[in-house]
Amino acid sequence: MCGIIGYTGPQAAAPILIDGLRRLEYRGYDSAGITVHSRKKLLSWKAAGKIAVLESQLPETIKSNSGIGHTRWATHGAPTDSNAHPHLNSNQTLSLVHNGIIENADTLKEALLDDGIEFKSETDTEILVHLLSRTVNDNQLSLIDAMRITLSKIVGTYGIAAISNSDPGTLVLARNGSPVIIGIGQGEMLAASDMSALSRYTREVVHLDDGELAVINPNGFEVSTMDAIAKDKASITLSNSTEDYDKGGHKHYLYKEIIDQPETVRRTLSGRLNTRFSTAHLGGLNLDPRELLKITRIKILGCGSALYAGMAGSHMIESLARIPTDAEAAAEFRYRNPVIEADTLYIVVSQSGETFDTLAATREIQRKGGFVLGIVNSVGSTIAREVDGGIYMHAGPEVSVASTKAYTSMLSVFALLAILFGRSRDISPQKGTQLLQELQSIPEKITAVIALEKQIAAIAKKYCKCHSAFFIGRTSAYPVALEGAQKLKEISYIHAEAYPASELKHGPLALVSKDTPCFVILPDTDLLLKSVGTLEEIKARSAPVIAVTDSNNKRIDELADHVIRTPTSDPLVQGIISGIALQLLAYHSAVALKRDVDQPRNLAKSVTVE
Ligand code: AGP
Repeated sequence: MCGIIGYTGPQAAAPILIDGLRRLEYRGYDSAGITVHSRKKLLSWKAAGKIAVLESQLPETIKSNSGIGHTRWATHGAPTDSNAHPHLNSNQTLSLVHNGIIENADTLKEALLDDGIEFKSETDTEILVHLLSRTVNDNQLSLIDAMRITLSKIVGTYGIAAISNSDPGTLVLARNGSPVIIGIGQGEMLAASDMSALSRYTREVVHLDDGELAVINPNGFEVSTMDAIAKDKASITLSNSTEDYDKGGHKHYLYKEIIDQPETVRRTLSGRLNTRFSTAHLGGLNLDPRELLKITRIKILGCGSALYAGMAGSHMIESLARIPTDAEAAAEFRYRNPVIEADTLYIVVSQSGETFDTLAATREIQRKGGFVLGIVNSVGSTIAREVDGGIYMHAGPEVSVASTKAYTSMLSVFALLAILFGRSRDISPQKGTQLLQELQSIPEKITAVIALEKQIAAIAKKYCKCHSAFFIGRTSAYPVALEGAQKLKEISYIHAEAYPASELKHGPLALVSKDTPCFVILPDTDLLLKSVGTLEEIKARSAPVIAVTDSNNKRIDELADHVIRTPTSDPLVQGIISGIALQLLAYHSAVALKRDVDQPRNLAKSVTVE
């Protein structure tokens, strides 16, 4: 949510800042800006709209070797030129970009207004730069020391990069709740909110932790605490390459990320299928077999699609391992003062590893003594670093705002966990072997669904003008329906609701009509005939029915207007397979409606605010 970039080194700064912003644009895209050092001056440009608008306003050459930039997802104040970051102090000697929210902004602003400070924006960030300016001037302090004093007055969250005209080539960074990564290059240093902006220049990074500040210049970096105690931080080398952040010749990241899924799932499963003992091998679990056996309950927490993946995961684990398992929205959980039990395993799920609500839930559980296992995609992210045990998804960077490959990899990790827990309790080696074979077949089954793209695109084109759509699924197919509806509304803006099949007749059926296409997910399980009954109910109200099924039941073909037939699969993986069809459906609906597929309105990839 919002993207920060900073550069200092021998190269021209502005093109690097713009390139970084473009790569961070998925984090927020309503306005952008940069400030660069130009001798003893700061030069700034900002513009509402996407990075391209900002770029079109820049002079052809800007002589500068250091600066900061920002792409915004509005919290305080509308997306306008003046609310765009960076924000500068009154005499233009300091410039600052900020992610996060200053909770005591109103009180601080009042005091500054009383002192005659004129504000140019409605943002909470501008308060920071005026406070910083006053601290520098009143006390003749260096930028880093003034930053410490300024931040001690702040209540809220921040990731910050700041520069001063008096110290060209130096950037000051700070973090509390919003990620800041230092990128170590050859004679140059960078800073960014995430790796996507750094990967072209370096893979060697240092993650700042909450409460840490840093000074960077072309020769290196120094990290310190709020109490000015120096910290020795080791760098890590990440494996993501620049290509991971490219569209691979496709029009949209989302499309690339959908069709990459046979490979990304392969990566998620790689090295984790223990055929010798017919179980899964998950190195980062940090739980030995005895501890595994002591688990009496599992609680899964996440937000949005990660929550739906958790719901699907709870079905997998409960049915194979017979451990009571459920999933809950991370923010709801933490705000209801949850009871934390010693024998409960808490699993947090997050693609970005930075989602504020999921991170806050993690900390609440740990504070009360619970053990938290993380399922995370982004290597080195805050959640990945703070959990007690972790499983990386290895899906590679997901750039499009709507989650696809990470969601599928979350389900794949849950399938592995279900087999692992199942084998430590209820299921036989024979069943374990069969399930491992099922997992191995996922990539080719995903490929088979992708081969149905033409049919799915035609269905999308036919129904994309509807005002509302319903997604229906029973038990384990309900989370699939939730995620299908989520994808459609996110990127096509079609109103879409998901219901458990059994709930239709308790209210929603009143809305079902010839104008509301119903996407019904019917896995070939022992509940199939009950779901066919749901098709009858819907058809009796003349609604168009699109069945997504791996069953050959004839009645489905008679009742449904369209049948998307997915490969026959064990219930453990059926949600993964049918989910791909719904991703393609959402994608083609959005394309048919000419939506901004990768950067849908009002959304941002990584939700690092409450
Ligand atoms: C998914 O399409 C959404 N963009 C969103 O619901 C997302 O899954 C949610 O914000 C959680 O993100 P995370 O996985 O990075 O924690």
